[in-house]
Amino acid sequence: MLKIVVFISGRGSNLKAILSHIQDGSLKAEVCAVISDKPEAAGLELAKNAGVPAIVVPRLPKNRSLAEFNAELAATALNYSPDLVVLAGFMRVVTTEFLSAFPGRVVNIHPSLLPSFKGLHAQKQAVEAGVKFAGCTVHYVNEEVDSGGIIAQAVVPVLPNDSEDSLSQRILEKEHKLFPAVLQAFASGQITIGDTGDIQQETNSLVSLNLLVTA
Ligand code: GRF
Repeated sequence: MLKIVVFISGRGSNLKAILSHIQDGSLKAEVCAVISDKPEAAGLELAKNAGVPAIVVPRLPKNRSLAEFNAELAATALNYSPDLVVLAGFMRVVTTEFLSAFPGRVVNIHPSLLPSFKGLHAQKQAVEAGVKFAGCTVHYVNEEVDSGGIIAQAVVPVLPNDSEDSLSQRILEKEHKLFPAVLQAFASGQITIGDTGDIQQETNSLVSLNLLVTA
């Protein structure tokens, strides 16, 4: 059973999708803990309702360094010995102090077809750029925001009258399929991570994963 710790900052709809795929048996994983930097994050309630420990690690006090904050995030997650650390709408920059605790084992979902539209308001960036296709990306996390190796992507059309909201909604529906599917690829051994954090993906299985979520 793949043990995961999920980091959130807000609504938690991706967490909800992960939990419901676990519940229906299509994702063979266990969410050991949900950690949020925001006490008011709605996703914390989802965790509690699923019987999962819901932990708040606040960024505050403001005078502590980003490095100290990241060390506390890592220490909190390490209590649960996760196989994989999942960032699902976690709105904080993670640093070496965090990443070195889980070499090659931190993944994130971003609402664009990376490497386009990194950072905040990716869907708005896509609408403003006039691109005809958008989507979401699950990728490994490194020290640069939204820049780690791409694991899988799902694509949606951008329609002529799309607003940021309508496009975000269309992408979100794909996120809720893509993220659990990628986590299941880890759970089933289609994607493996060596002890040193070196990553081996079975290319064929990921090709079919991408086709699945694009359909
Ligand atoms: C999603 O759009 C995700 O791609 C981005 O933040 C949002 C989180 O949404 N990283 P939710 O909290 O999972 O509903």
